[in-house]
Amino acid sequence: MAKDSYEIVVLPGDGIGKDVMPEAIKVLKAVSRKKEFEVNLIEFECGAQYYQKTGKEWENNAFDSCKQADAILLGAVGWPGVSLPDGNIAGAGIVFGLRFGLDLYANVRPTKLYQGVLHSVHGEKRQIWKHGLVDLITVRENTEGLYAPARGKLERGGFQELALDTRIITEKGARRVIKYAFELSKRKEKGAPKDGKKRVTCVDKSNVLEGCRLFRNIYDEVAEGYPEVERDYAYIDAYTQWLVRDPDYYQVVVTTNMLGDIASDLSSVLAGSLGMAPSGNIGDRHAFFEPVHGSAPKHAGKNKANPFAMILSAAMMLDHLGHRFGDQVLVESAKDIESAVEKVIAKGSVLTYDLGGSSSTKEVGDAVVKLI
Ligand code: NAI
Ligand code: MG
Repeated sequence: MAKDSYEIVVLPGDGIGKDVMPEAIKVLKAVSRKKEFEVNLIEFECGAQYYQKTGKEWENNAFDSCKQADAILLGAVGWPGVSLPDGNIAGAGIVFGLRFGLDLYANVRPTKLYQGVLHSVHGEKRQIWKHGLVDLITVRENTEGLYAPARGKLERGGFQELALDTRIITEKGARRVIKYAFELSKRKEKGAPKDGKKRVTCVDKSNVLEGCRLFRNIYDEVAEGYPEVERDYAYIDAYTQWLVRDPDYYQVVVTTNMLGDIASDLSSVLAGSLGMAPSGNIGDRHAFFEPVHGSAPKHAGKNKANPFAMILSAAMMLDHLGHRFGDQVLVESAKDIESAVEKVIAKGSVLTYDLGGSSSTKEVGDAVVKLI
């Protein structure tokens, strides 16, 4: 049932996270005024720069607030040279703390090429893939695989002899993320750009790896329940070249954790800039949304970074909440944001440097707000 007010925890984090977050908040407030729904925002400082200052990655009560919130928005975390005593980057505890602590098993990464976006794959901005040919979503398993904390090292006499990372694939972990992918495919209005078909591609290495064979078997079982969605299979190595050659063939792609980490970064190139790639980390009860990019230290604090990935992450959040709580107003609000972004890009007069423009982060946020 739709709620009277939605509670959102806001974590700007480090670097350009602090530049792009205010723009997403501005857009969120504008759309909530227009569509007359209420959001209650609770902000916490966090990340590596906060750790440098305080010796903590975030305030003690921040995680509890995240547990109680309807959703969380995160900017980016990480700062050069700031690590935890265990060698992990400071701030990683927030991303992994939320993913594992809130059991956010589906990492959802849409890749869409908007009209007017150019690429710089050859070092110069030009058209490579055409608008309308790239509109796919990678769904990456987010709580197991190679990132499950089943790792260790063997040190004898102070000399490290061995490092071990164990890849864990469970029936439960595979089933729920694959089910999420099929539900997403069914729910999306449009099928794959090439033929309009609803299609879930299972990307794995099941010709070699036991865990991938389990993943694929579960995929087949889940697929039985979705006769309207086409089945499709690809080995990860072949998939990387098909993705670049025929991105229009894909609608939803589901894969294991590490393979999805790499495949979704590759796919974000098809959107023209890291500054265009939003993402969601979604579980049954909790979810957080963040741009795919990091804290980009060299651009931090310069009012220069592209805020679209952050703004589109906020739109994903509204779409998710709308479906979770059966609140059509939120689903429509997400569409309003996306269509405003689309128009700003197509017009081409207010764009940041990475899209070939010279506008500031704030000017781009203002342009989106104005259209809303
Ligand atoms: P990055 O994504 O921060 O930046 C790489 C380059 O991409 C930047 O130098 C910039 O040229 C471009 N870029 C990224 N976002 C942009 C935007 N919104 N607008 C315009 N250009 C943009 O990756 P990098 O440099 O490898 O990592 C920097 C820090 O961020 C590290 O501490 C890293 O650990 C952390 N990181 C955090 C992530 C997270 O919070 N989930 C994800 C990736 C990296
Ligand atoms: Mg990555």
